Order: sequence, then structure tokens, then C-alpha cells
Amino acid sequence: DEGISTFVLTDDDVRALLPVRKLKGHKGTHGKGILVAGSKGMSGAAVLAGQGALRSGIGLLQIVTPHGIAQDVDARITEATVWSASGEDSLNEEAWSVILKQAEKAQALAVGPGLAQNLRFISVLDEILKTISCPVVLDADALNLVALEAGLLTSRNGRGPLILTPHPGEMARLCQCSVDDVENNRLDLAVAKAVEWEAVVVLKGSVTIIASPDGRAFFNPTGNPGLGTGGTGDVLTGSILAWLAQGVPPLEAACLGVYLHGKSADSLASEYGWSGFTALEVADYLPKVRRGLE
Ligand code: APR
Ligand code: MG
Repeated sequence: DEGISTFVLTDDDVRALLPVRKLKGHKGTHGKGILVAGSKGMSGAAVLAGQGALRSGIGLLQIVTPHGIAQDVDARITEATVWSASGEDSLNEEAWSVILKQAEKAQALAVGPGLAQNLRFISVLDEILKTISCPVVLDADALNLVALEAGLLTSRNGRGPLILTPHPGEMARLCQCSVDDVENNRLDLAVAKAVEWEAVVVLKGSVTIIASPDGRAFFNPTGNPGLGTGGTGDVLTGSILAWLAQGVPPLEAACLGVYLHGKSADSLASEYGWSGFTALEVADYLPKVRRGLE
């Protein structure tokens, strides 16, 4: 579309976005982030998103996950604190009290990886959109739940900044169109919805588009088909959470997260080719690619 200003992200752009650590920095100054994730059978999504956050330099990570898997998540991610919230297999509306209490002291919140689609959680998403003042990332089943409730995104009377990270299937559900409609119209749709929802829309795919509510769009040149394996999207969500927690503004945090995530996969591909590296490895390689840019 001629009316849309587009940009291709570069190493130089991204280098300029990296937060600089102060010699006297501590875990408080590096930011606290809340990750609401996981359900029975999908505890790995919480672990992967958590690892994405830790490998992106978050100061403190708190994971909110349902009673039924909290012990498991706690045992698998040593560095995070884990809050067991209401719901046996998946979080329900009573989880809101824990989320609210934690979010009051946090710099950023991410919701969705492996969350499952418990309809009782929709009211929590509504509360999050209407009351939380820090930046919020919604991914995966948080997007699928939001898609079930017409008007949730458009009637939120904006509190804090919002970042949505749909893959094409999730975008299709959010827009009530087909995946083909999304894929044939990626740029225009991502920008139109970013403007409509007043949110940063990260439309994932082989060339991820980061669309800003001001109408600009950024194309990500990094990444490869090796990322087409379960859990890589969860890692990205955790990474964006960490950049937000460190004070990077929403649009920039999305660009930084997407670019480094792809670059991490590209580094792994130089060794393994375009298959066989895992989501956890993508997370673990993040600091090395960040270091390579500094
Ligand atoms: N080239 C570059 N990047 C790619 C490519 C490719 N060919 N294929 C995939 N990617 C990237 C995407 O841009 C995105 O960052 O890999 C990531 C995949 O993310 P998701 O599609 O969200 O997949 P993931 O989250 O790992 O899947 C696990 O979460 O969202 C749910 O429905 C999803 O159940 C699934 C679960
Ligand atoms: Mg996903």
C-alpha cells in the first residue's frame, strides 16, 4: 500500500535500541516481568517463554501458572519465581487476584503461551486490558480467547501499551477472516489492525511484520525455516517481555525481540542448517547474538 511507511530492520537500528547496563545496575533496575502462561500438557510453553525472558536479560521473572502444573514449572525453571494461581488444568477467573497483585509491582506483563482456552479466563483478559497500566503482551491462547469476545480489543479505552504477537492462524481468528486472507494481505492488515486496536501488531511468519499504531510497519529480515518448530513463538513472547521490563518502549521492544530471535536462529542455522535446532536453543543463543551487535 502506497500510504504505509515501511522499513526493513537492520543491525544498526537494533543496536541503537539495546538498553545499556549501568555499572551499579541490579535486578530491580533491570526490571520485573510477569509471565502468565501454561496449562496441563503445555507447561513447556511457560518454561520456553521464561527462558526467552531470562536470556534477554530480565531482572526478575515471575510466572503465574495454574495449581495443577505450578510445581512442575517451578522445578523446570530455576531462576523464576512461580505463583500458583486458581485453576487445576488451566487458569480461571479467580487467577485475576494473583495477576493483579503481581502486576502492580511489575514493569511488564505477558499472557498466553500454553494458556489453553478456558472460557472462564476471558473476564481476566478483559480486566487486564482495562486496568493494567504497564505494557502488556498477548500471545497464543490469550489471542484466541480475545478473538472469541467481540469488541474486547476495541472497547478497552486503552490503559497501558498493548503488543499482540499472532501467527497467521491467530490473526485470522482475531480478524474473523481466513488464513489466506491474512497471508495475501499481510502488510495492509497488520497496519490496519494496529491502528484500529491501538496496539503494536507483530504478525509472525517467514518475514515477520511489526506494525505500529501510528501506521508505520517494520519488516524483519532475520530468521529461517528452522524456526518452524513448536515453542519458538513462546520464546519470542518471553523475550519481548524482557525488553519491555528493561524499559525499552513497546514498538522498539517488539522490533528488538523479533530481530534478535531470528538472528539467534540464523546463528544456529550456520551450524545445523535449517532444521533440528530447538526452541530452547533459540532462547539460549539470544545473549550471544545480542553481544555480537554491541
Ligand atoms: N522463517 C522465519 N521465521 C519463521 C519461519 C520461517 N520460515 N517459520 C516460523 N517462523 C517464526 C515465526 O515468525 C515465529 O516467530 O517462528 C515463530 C513461530 O511462532 P508460533 O507460530 O507462535 O509457533 P509456536 O508458538 O512455537 O507454536 C506453539 O503456540 O501459538 C500457539 O498455535 C500455536 O499451538 C501452537 C503453539
Ligand atoms: Mg505461538
